Amino acid sequence: MNQFATKAQAQEARHLLQVYGQLPIEPTAAKGVYLQCGEQQILDLYGGHAVAALGYSHPELLAALQAQATTLFFQSNAVALPVRAQAADALIDMAPGKLDRVFFANSGAEANENALRIACRLTGRRRVAAIEKGFHGRTAGAGAVTWGSADRWYGFPDTPFDVDFIPRDDAAAVARGITEETAAVILELVQGVAGAYDLAPDFVTAIAARCQATGTLLIVDEVQSGIGRCGAPFAADIYGVAPDLLTTAKSLGAGFPCSALLLSGEVAAAVGPGDLGTTFGGGPLACALISTVIEVIKRDELMARAAALHAQLAAALPVGPAIALQGKGLLAGVRCSRPAREIQSELLTAGILVGSSADPQVFRLLPPLVLESEHIEQLLAALAKLPAA
Ligand SMILES: Cc1ncc(COP(=O)(O)O)c(C=O)c1O
Repeated sequence: MNQFATKAQAQEARHLLQVYGQLPIEPTAAKGVYLQCGEQQILDLYGGHAVAALGYSHPELLAALQAQATTLFFQSNAVALPVRAQAADALIDMAPGKLDRVFFANSGAEANENALRIACRLTGRRRVAAIEKGFHGRTAGAGAVTWGSADRWYGFPDTPFDVDFIPRDDAAAVARGITEETAAVILELVQGVAGAYDLAPDFVTAIAARCQATGTLLIVDEVQSGIGRCGAPFAADIYGVAPDLLTTAKSLGAGFPCSALLLSGEVAAAVGPGDLGTTFGGGPLACALISTVIEVIKRDELMARAAALHAQLAAALPVGPAIALQGKGLLAGVRCSRPAREIQSELLTAGILVGSSADPQVFRLLPPLVLESEHIEQLLAALAKLPAA
């Protein structure tokens, strides 16, 4: 029997390293919130892993890309560019609390790696705290603070700093995990890979207070949750915390690879020329798209829509095997009465793509923010046809 679900999987297997579990679909085109897979149209509630913030073939995104590509395709940070300055202005304009400086990078892991490096350097400390079940990427520092990496894929003989994992939502464990020796705590307020699990507010408040008391820097990883996805500019706005450093990526370029590290003025004051660097980060194509993404999300009120769609779905549950909703806005986890992988596969047969998660009972919704109420109805109708147990 053919071991590949699609022709492209067989083609990739010729030379690509086989490290991904792949979905059994082969999109040939996409528009709005739909993927075209041969004859089949699939409602995309996965969004290329929370990336396709404006859906597919968004006219303004395409126009911005073409305009920038035809005027100035690339220049590195060796020269200052208005397009880069504008992207930074737009990002800081929507950033929470005391964040007022940006460093552009290329991936979520790279942004986190730089945040962790700055925290260790600035404090002179060599411990970092993180939260159990969190995911922060696959580089040396980001992987070190990713729950479970050591047992599965980490690979390096040592981590660059000592790591203390704090059990999720255990406010009593916070004082043990964060001490005067802790450079930083890094956390996802809504843990994406873990199943869009939103941390308990009192746990987050305890962490922020403990950071204050111990001189520990608070790094909020909004690689997945940021740029409007949670129904506010950042999840930090919803929780009312003021991070010292914040990282974001995925929706930021809506499909163009880019990330950003945001820093408070106080932290930024300790970072000088030569301390950080990248060739591609802050490139003009990425920056033109970042400005466009932010402009469209604000103008079309997509943050309020994300919150409303979450509320619409939450109010309709339970339906079929879907019991309850967690997460915020359009970073949502649907808890199921049966293994989520089964539901994911049954929904795909019904023409709806959802994401899996590290929690076997939870599938994830990370759709384009241009999703509409009728698409939630479509999901609910499909779920209603599936057996509850
Ligand atoms: C919360 C979070 N942080 C960091 C990362 C790593 O981002 P990247 O894959 O762009 O390196 C991810 C990726 O899924 C993520 O969800």
